[in-house]
Amino acid sequence: MSVITIKDKRFSASISAETIQKEVKRVADEINRDFAGKEPLFLSVLNGAFMFSADLMKHITIPCEISFVKLASYQGVTSTGRIKEVFGLNEDLTDRVVIILEDIVDTGQTMQHLLESLGARHPKEIHIATLLLKPDKLKVALNVEYVAMNIPNDFIVGYGLDYDGMGRNYPEIYTICDSDES
Ligand code: IMP
Ligand code: MG
Repeated sequence: MSVITIKDKRFSASISAETIQKEVKRVADEINRDFAGKEPLFLSVLNGAFMFSADLMKHITIPCEISFVKLASYQGVTSTGRIKEVFGLNEDLTDRVVIILEDIVDTGQTMQHLLESLGARHPKEIHIATLLLKPDKLKVALNVEYVAMNIPNDFIVGYGLDYDGMGRNYPEIYTICDSDES
């Protein structure tokens, strides 16, 4: 089992690049099927969703657009509960079918905030596609329609996700070793 060190923490490989690619392709196939004729606007949530978004989009075969927004609620390995503003969105969402691309839904607070903020721009529909979901940590009622993988509560890095800004570059996902926080 491969182990990496990022700053003061050790992480061991938990989801292979092959598994990630297979599940991302499955989600893309579902979206192709469900949004044919709807010309969806994908909204990728930076920074975490950059790798998921790039890999997913290579399998999207229906007419669509993609744009990028930025916001964050995390510092270190526990949620701070502080939500920053959504920024970078220049598109008119009026009557658009929007599909949010997120790296991970943890407590769901970030997603809830984003839904409220985007909802005020009068889209026709908003859907959520996430690479990862921690079902046991979800605190708010969310309809997360597209999930590549469900994972346990442990803190993870890789494939776009970071620990203090580091570790986004790995093509696989690593889980923290002997965490004293959850
Ligand atoms: P939430 O608001 O609690 O759902 O947190 C969502 C955000 O926290 C995600 O978009 C990630 O940026 C970050 N996050 C949650 N869990 C992890 C993790 O295990 N590793 C790295 N970042 C995480
Ligand atoms: Mg994120």
